[in-house]
Parts: sequence; structure tokens; C-alpha cells
Amino acid sequence: MSSELNDPAGFIREHGPATLEWAASYLERVGSLPVLAQVDPGELTAQLPDSPPAQGESFDAVLRDLDAILMPGITHWQHPRYFAYFPSATSGPAILAETLAATINTVSFLWRSSPAATELEGVVLAWVAQLMGLPSGWHGQIEAGGSLATMAAAIAARDATGRNLLVCSQETHSSAAKAARMLGMGLRAVPVDGDGALRVEALGDLKDAAIVVATVGTTSRCAVDPVAAIADACQPAGAWLHVDAAYAGTAMVCPELRPAFEGVERADSLLVNAHKWMLTPIDCSLLWTSRPDVFRTAFSMVPEYLRTPTAEDEWSLHEYGPALGRGFRALKLWAVLRCYGRDGLREHVRAGVQMAQEFETWLVAQDDWELVSPCRFGLVCFRHTGDDEFNQALLERVNGSGEAFLSHTVIDGRFALRLATGGLLTTPADVHQTWQLLSREAAALSS
Ligand SMILES: Cc1ncc(COP(=O)(O)O)c(C=O)c1O
Repeated sequence: MSSELNDPAGFIREHGPATLEWAASYLERVGSLPVLAQVDPGELTAQLPDSPPAQGESFDAVLRDLDAILMPGITHWQHPRYFAYFPSATSGPAILAETLAATINTVSFLWRSSPAATELEGVVLAWVAQLMGLPSGWHGQIEAGGSLATMAAAIAARDATGRNLLVCSQETHSSAAKAARMLGMGLRAVPVDGDGALRVEALGDLKDAAIVVATVGTTSRCAVDPVAAIADACQPAGAWLHVDAAYAGTAMVCPELRPAFEGVERADSLLVNAHKWMLTPIDCSLLWTSRPDVFRTAFSMVPEYLRTPTAEDEWSLHEYGPALGRGFRALKLWAVLRCYGRDGLREHVRAGVQMAQEFETWLVAQDDWELVSPCRFGLVCFRHTGDDEFNQALLERVNGSGEAFLSHTVIDGRFALRLATGGLLTTPADVHQTWQLLSREAAALSS
């Protein structure tokens, strides 16, 4: 083993500057790379050795192969014309803080295993809750993903109610159905209205329901379930209300976007992925509950080797969720909140919404394009007046160009393209370039 590996400080001093320069120059040039990786399945695997090296190599070799082998296979989520699925936006403060968190690499399952990481996690979750106008006093913590957070809520709900049924809408993210399947729970998928929102009158009897999952900003078309009315139905039935605002939740920082979330203050649990629209790299899913005692009953498992004095116990984050070992994820979110502040976050959200709305105005002004679902938050669902096959081919051409990357959905049985804004580097010019690209490719396909 090379002696420099026994000296991590020296290693960082030697290789850190080049690595940080790589990161900075990547973010400068990412807009010139093809957004969607232009490789075939297995192509990268074929270029990598079957076995790890017997003798260690230099870090320079790692950086070299990152460029030579891996970069062609990267789909660039930070590209200014990345509009697929939902964004996973990163930012300068978060990138640097992530590096520091990996350096400190503290593990916060008990308070004593990392007092600062434990307490900072509580503080940043309370800060975000405040920015979003949530009631004070909720317990919040960071989970590895939205899917895991919803599963944790389902576990808590099942424990609290003694029931075994998960209720959601037909357009709820698949993570809810997956949680039900993994937990052996029954699933009732309630029909949606013309806007994709859960039809409250179709909820049915909730007396057997452990949990109802309401979504603000569904994945397919950013539909908004009527959370307040769902809360009205849950309350008398004793059903747990979980609100999934994985993508749209960040918009709660803007007062003018807050009305869509009416009723969220009545939730038993709430999920917002900071790793979507809150400028914090994956993974960083924020999960709050107004009933921390229920979470603790459901998840607390304290073997002798994890026992601590009582005064520390209630801080033990592992007692409130499925994971034991937990990283210092709060640091990157703290850096984002401090460097952007409330106003900076608002500006970021508003810019994304404005760009999506502008795209919508171009689209509706043209006869050969159709709005499939109105712009909500930063998402527009649309299609060309051609048939499904035409629209699928159009999407392939646009994505194949490498100039922009969009994804699709099916709404009321019809294929629709999705354009979701929210990346840090996206500008109005990028959205306009993408509109021109769509128009150009549609014309080429029509001719
Ligand atoms: C509304 C919604 N909920 C949950 C999820 C799942 O989140 P994660 O990918 O963090 O598991 C997504 C992912 O896009 C989503 O859009």
C-alpha cells in the first residue's frame, strides 16, 4: 500500500485541488455535454476490469478513468436542459458540505455517537418546517429516500392503528404501493378526478384504513390531492394521514404557492425530498411527524450495546426510523439554508415555476401542440397533435439529440411528454432552446 494512503490529510492536500477543479470545471462544461447518456446497456461494464487491482493505483488513475470511461455513461442531472422526471438539483454550498460530511464521517444513531449531527438534524428540519409554515414542535429527521420515508410512515401508522390497509390514489407514486407490498398490507387505490387529484367521495369507508397517502405534486402530472378534505375523512375514522410532497414540498417556502398545501398542517407525517428541488444532493429526504411518540414505539429497539443514560435517549434518532447508521446529511442542508437563506430558496423555486409557465404559454399559442395537463409548480405535461406513436418518436428524437432530456407519462390513456424545471443551471434561454428543439424535431418527423 502506498504510504500516502496512511496520511489522509496529505492525500487530500495532494489530490484535493485537482479534484475540486474537476468539480468546478464539470459544472462549467456540463451544459455542453449530451444530457442523456448516449451509451448502450453493458457498454461501460465491458470497459471495466473484471477484478479490482491487486496493488493500489494512484488517485490520478481514478480521475482519468472517470473522464475516459464513466463520463460518457453519465446522464447529467445538473445539465441546464435536464427536464426529465423531477429535478435533483445540487448547489455549491451543498457540494462542499457533502465533502466535509464525508471527511468527518460521523454516524448519528445515538446522541452520543454524534451530538452535533443529531442536534443539527433536528435544527435544520425545524428551520425548514418554519420556512414552510408547518406547525411548530413536529419531529423531523432525514431518511435515505422518499420511498423509505413513506414506508416508515406506513409502519408507524400500522403500529398506531392496528390496521393493515394503505389507501392512496391511482396516481400516487408507486413507492406507496411498494411499501404496502413489502409490508404485506392491503392496498386500495382510489380513482382520481379530471385533474388527477384523489376523489374524496371515492375514498370509501376508512375504518379499516391504517394510512391514507395524500400527494401534493404527483409524479405523473403534479396533481394536488385535496389534503384538507382527506384529513376530514381520516380524522373520524382514526386513519393516519401521510402527505407525500416529495417534489412540490419545497414550493411551500413561497407564500403564493402555499395554498396548494392547505391541510398539510393536519398530517400525521409529511415527506419532502430536499434532494429534489431544495438544492441539496441526493440523498436527503425530510420526514416530519406530528406524532413522534408513535414513531418511537414503532421503531425503538435498544439492545444492551446501544443503551445510554435516559437523558440522552429521547435524542436517539435510530429510535424514530428504520435505519441505525445514519450519515451527516444535515450538514449539506444546513449549508444550503445558510447560504441561500429563505429569500434565495424562494428565488430558486420562483425561477423554476416561471420558466415552466413561460414554456406553457409558447405551447398553447401553437395549434399543433396540446397541453395535456396545466403547468403546476415547475411541471408541464403536453403533446404534439400527432398520435401516441408520433409523440413517442418525438421524445426519442429529442432525447437522442443530447441537447435536452425530457421524460413521459400517460394521462387518461394518452402519451404525454413531461418538462420539469428546477435545476440550478437552467435559464429561460435553455427552456427556449428546448422549445425550439421540440418544434424542429416535430417538423422533421411530420415531413
Ligand atoms: C411524489 C413522489 N413521491 C415519492 C418519490 C420517491 O422518492 P425517492 O426517489 O426519494 O424514493 C418520488 C420520486 O420521484 C415522487 O415523485
